[in-house]
Parts: sequence; C-alpha cells; structure tokens
Amino acid sequence: MGVTDASAPEQRTDGSVEAQAQGQPILEGRSLSKRFPGVVALDDVSVAFLPGEVHGLVGENGAGKSTLLKVLSGIYGEDSGEVLFEGRQVRFAVPADAVKLGIEVIPQELSLAPGLSAAENIMMGIQPSRFGRVRWGAVNRRAREVASSVHLEVDVRRKVETLSPAQQRLVMIARALARNARVVIMDEPTVSLTETEVEALKAVVRRLKRDGVTVVYVSHRLDEVLELTDRVTVMKDGRKVDTHPTSAVDKPQLVKEIIGRSLGEQFPDRVLPRTMTPLLSVRNLSGGPVRDLSFDLHRGEILGLAGLVGSGRTEVVRMLFGADPKHGGEITLEGRAVKISSPRQAIARGIALLPEDRRGQGGVVEMSIAANVTLPIIRRFAVRGVGFVREGAERRAVMERISRLNVATPSAKRPLKLLSGGNQQKTLIAKWELTKAKVFIFDEPTAGVDVGAKQEIFSLIAELARTGAGVIVISSELEEVVGLSHRVLVMREGRCVGELRGDQISEAEILALCYEAA
Ligand SMILES: Nc1ncnc2c1ncn2[C@@H]1O[C@H](COP(=O)(O)OP(=O)(O)OP(=O)(O)O)[C@@H](O)[C@H]1O
Ligand SMILES: [Mg+2]
Repeated sequence: MGVTDASAPEQRTDGSVEAQAQGQPILEGRSLSKRFPGVVALDDVSVAFLPGEVHGLVGENGAGKSTLLKVLSGIYGEDSGEVLFEGRQVRFAVPADAVKLGIEVIPQELSLAPGLSAAENIMMGIQPSRFGRVRWGAVNRRAREVASSVHLEVDVRRKVETLSPAQQRLVMIARALARNARVVIMDEPTVSLTETEVEALKAVVRRLKRDGVTVVYVSHRLDEVLELTDRVTVMKDGRKVDTHPTSAVDKPQLVKEIIGRSLGEQFPDRVLPRTMTPLLSVRNLSGGPVRDLSFDLHRGEILGLAGLVGSGRTEVVRMLFGADPKHGGEITLEGRAVKISSPRQAIARGIALLPEDRRGQGGVVEMSIAANVTLPIIRRFAVRGVGFVREGAERRAVMERISRLNVATPSAKRPLKLLSGGNQQKTLIAKWELTKAKVFIFDEPTAGVDVGAKQEIFSLIAELARTGAGVIVISSELEEVVGLSHRVLVMREGRCVGELRGDQISEAEILALCYEAA
C-alpha cells in the first residue's frame, strides 16, 4: 500500500456546508471510473464520507453502489481516479490493506466460512491467543458479547451453515463490529431481516455514530435511509446524481432522482377473485418447527404468510415445495391428494418457489441468465427426439421476459453472478413466470430490489393472481404483505395464530398477533 501526500482540503470535490463544517473527509473517492466488459459501472464518481457521519447511498439495481464501495475498500482496483484516506492518496493492493486502516465492509452477498462456527467467523483473524494457542473460551465469550449486541440470539458455537440467511447476515455485522473499525460500510444490511432485527441494527448504527465511527449505509428501503443518515448520495447509471443533507430531502424527491420519474401508487389494485375455488389445501402439516398447520389457498388469491424470523414461515413453503421433509399432513391440489417429496415433483405438479436465499437455492450463479431462466422448462425448447436445445428460441423467450422486468444486462448470455443483486432477483422471477405454474410461492421477493423494480414485481404478482394462479407471499417488510395480500395468516412458533382478511389487514394487527403472549 503506498501513501502519497495530501492535496489541499480546499480542493475537496464535495463543497457542501456540512462538509466544510466537519473538516476533512475520512474516506474519499475522486473521479473514480470502473468498467467491466460491456458495462461502465462507475463513471467519474466523486464522494466524500466525513468522520462520524452516517452516509446513505441509494440508486437503482445496477447503478454502481456496490462497485463504488468495493473500489473504496480495495476489493476492486479503479481504472482511473483516486481513493483518499484522511486526505492522503492510498492504493490498496489487497483488501487487507483497507482493513488495516480500519475500513470494514459488510458485503451485500453473504460471505462467511460455512463450516466454521459463528464465533470463529466473528473473531476471524483477531482471536485472543496465548503462547500461539487460541483461547477458545475467550473467543466464544467475546463473540457472544458482540452477537448479543446485534440481537443475534443463537449459540455462537453453531456452524454458520446451520443458521438462517438473516442470522448469517447478523454474523457478518457482528464480525465487522468485533474489530475496531473507523469506517463501516454496510451494503444492504437489512435484506431479509425482520422488524426486531432491523431495530437492533439501527441501534448499532446509532451507537457507531456516537463512538465517532463513519457508517456508509446502502439500502433500497428509503425510509431507513431517511431515518438513519446525515447525508445521502444518489447514484444513477454509474454516475453520481447528487449528495444532499438528509434533512433537506424527502422520499418522493429521492425516488425521482433514483429512477428519473415519480413512482405513483406502489401497490396494484387488489382484485379479489369472484368465487373462492380452493386450489391448494393443506391439512395438519408438521415438520421442522411447524405443528399441525391447516389452510386453503384459492384460485386468484394472494395469501400473505407473516411471522417473526423462526416462526416457521419459510419451513412451511419449503415443505410445500418438497425441499424439506414433512413429518405429517396432507396436501390436496385441485381436489386431488398429491405427494410432493422433491422440488422436481412440485414443479411437475405446477408449484413454483422463489426461495429466500437466492444464491444458495435460487439460481446457479455460474450459469448464464438464459440457462437459469429456462432451467425448469428446458424440455419445451428441446427439439423432440434430439438432445440439443434450440438456442435461438430459448434466448428470444428469455429476452422477452427479462426486458419486461427491466433486467439491466447487455446480453442473456451473461453469468448470473455478474448481475447486480436486484437484477439477479428479477431474473429468477422471470424463470418461474415462464413455467406457467398454478401455485406461486414468493419468499422475500423484493429482497435487494430497487423501488421501481419492486413496483414491477408487485404488479407481476397481482397479474399472476388475476390470471387464476394462487400466490403465497412471505415478506419481512410488513408494508408489502399488507399492500398485496387478500388474506394473511400469522404464524408464531410453528403454528397459525390468526387470520386476517380485507380491511382487517394492517401492520398493527399483524404485529399484535406476532407478539401476543410471546
Ligand atoms: N465483477 C463484475 N463483472 C462484470 N460486471 C459487473 C461486476 N460487478 C458489477 N458488474 C456490473 O456493474 C454494474 C454495477 O453493479 P453494482 O453491483 O455496483 O450495482 P448496485 O448499484 O450495487 O446494484 P444493486 O442495488 O442491485 O446491488 C452492473 O451493471 C453490474 O452488472
Ligand atoms: Mg449492490
């Protein structure tokens, strides 16, 4: 890592009043550019983060937010421009150089050692040791402290792979806190976290700020950004739109800068099915934490499944999809008892699941967009009797879908892993849309998706229901469950503790049922 002399602070690119008042930025990027094949991810971007501020970073999927943060933390090298730390130009040869300066990144995609314990992951590289031997008692104790400060209430000796995605995210946050960071960069920290965990995370951010730590906070949840940050930078198409004091902007203005237009009504009209024809009936379903659950899903209905993390929501839909074993219960589809013991059987019967963990279970990240989208329906494009796939037809069908969902990509041949997080999500939705399933299950469909794309996904869900499919939606953003569902089942500790319909559906009612007597 090379350090060269500072240029004068007056030359700072961010000339806002606050910036002047608070002095020299701790971390700064000047005229940063970065290209990938076919994409300009960063185009002459300058940003400055001040000591002790919480700085929001917002923008559409693919706007370049993660790329900017990766350049500022040494994960990617810049093509041009410079990175400054406390006014001095720095060159990070490896990410560890940034860590040495106290820059900690909590990346957007889960990146932990799955076979190691939560404690080992949290304390990686900083384990207390004596005479070269790790003091495991001390490691676990310190890890437990940090974990509980972010409300991660699990045995820290458990392997990370046995934890839910939300718990794994909390492990990553705890890992950054265990080091004495000076700048903590959080790239979509609240994806898949529920209310309680989000509140805990907000408390963590406030505590960091009190301790003088700079927090860079990327989120598509604009209410969070408006609540937590001191300043906010908007990016669009690889460029910086502007940096504002947060007190000087509101949500409609941010939305307008992010997507270039006003959003209008976020949720589509709720069109109730004319007759309630049962499509899927579940009786006495048990397995994992789930006990004796019975419910019906009707044609044309959007059924919300609410509950805290660990209430069994995800397990219910994984059993319906044949991804987890059932210990008991019957499933009836269109009046006929069906046996579903694998995802393949579920797909054959017309049940589709968009899972919560899109990288682990949702898609094959090494494969192209086209291959991912056509995976469940590949037979339709295969020439009868011959083993190969008609690539042209496949690509046309895929491009039609992904362009409807505005997936930002130069080509359908791109590997899924090179898309931004939100665009990966939209690709996986396109995949299920093409299967013409009868029952669609969406587990956290808008995780990491920008405001414009959220609206598109909501209208897609409503359209599936209008055309007669039954839809089950799980979302940790209660606003979405309330805005979309015709009916909501609330789960607690593996059981259904309440059902809300029509006007009864509200965030307050759902929360009351979640916590009642808990
Ligand atoms: N390693 C890479 N190789 C090729 N292209 C990449 C790579 N990383 C990012 N890109 C592309 O650069 C652009 C910016 O992506 P980036 O991940 O920075 O967006 P983002 O603003 O973080 O989006 P999201 O909100 O979806 O996370 C996108 O078009 C993306 O496909
Ligand atoms: Mg990103």
